[in-house]
Amino acid sequence: MAQIIDGKTISQQIKEELKEEAGRLREAGIEACLAVVQVGTDPASTIYVRNKRRACEYIGIRSLLHELPENTSQEELLALIEQLNEDPKVHGILVQLPLPKQMDESVILKAIDPGKDVDGFHPINVGRLCIGEKSYLPCTPAGIIELLKRSGITVAGKECVVIGRSNIVGKPMSLLLLQENGTVTIAHSKTEHLKEVAKRADILVVAIGKPGFITREYVKEGAAVIDVGIHRNSQNKVCGDVDFEDVRQVAGAVTPVPGGVGPMTIAMLMRNCLEAAKETVEQR
Ligand code: GUN
Repeated sequence: MAQIIDGKTISQQIKEELKEEAGRLREAGIEACLAVVQVGTDPASTIYVRNKRRACEYIGIRSLLHELPENTSQEELLALIEQLNEDPKVHGILVQLPLPKQMDESVILKAIDPGKDVDGFHPINVGRLCIGEKSYLPCTPAGIIELLKRSGITVAGKECVVIGRSNIVGKPMSLLLLQENGTVTIAHSKTEHLKEVAKRADILVVAIGKPGFITREYVKEGAAVIDVGIHRNSQNKVCGDVDFEDVRQVAGAVTPVPGGVGPMTIAMLMRNCLEAAKETVEQR
């Protein structure tokens, strides 16, 4: 039976560390501050934004919420971003995705000052990650690396398979695993013989967006399986991309949903915010 990788406990440990760091910054006269922008009222986004603000409150990071109506124009959002870029009290800026259809996501993400881009989505930060320079790391992949490290799972030399090639998870995940000296394969919806490819993995990261898709036939005995999916099943229960009960029979370690990757994503956002605030101390 697989070890269950407890993201809730590990993220709590990280949040305690960050709480102390926020306290030290406050003593140095800096109150770390995250500006969160939500456009429209997508229910999932509302929950994510609420959880992010709760984490800020817990750690001692000031959070400013800008709620804009669904019909906000791109120019209005760009004007707000510009104002937040210029505000020296704001260290991090997060524009919750997805955005309404009248907006071009890539234009919006490029408008955020790369030094305040705590999501790590600006092309400058993506480029820095790609060439191995210090940058803000996208929170979900960074959280997965931290989960592996704190669970004693080494990446170096291992076969890593990432299923999914999104800009938010799949691509940066594969770069981070490579940076940790993994041997990395990126698989996706067009990959042929997906079962065989997935079964090569010592570390299998699943971000395919299909509830319960990964069963034991995709998993090598003893592999670590990381589930990035989050869905509601037919009984309205939260579940991931991995059939947890089936996979845990063969895997060496597996993350549950909820309580696996999700809480780590938020912890890494908090870490990025404190990094951004610390930069301003170092620049003084
Ligand atoms: N929507 C879903 N995940 C994310 C995320 O990590 N950051 C932002 N800004 N929006 C999201």
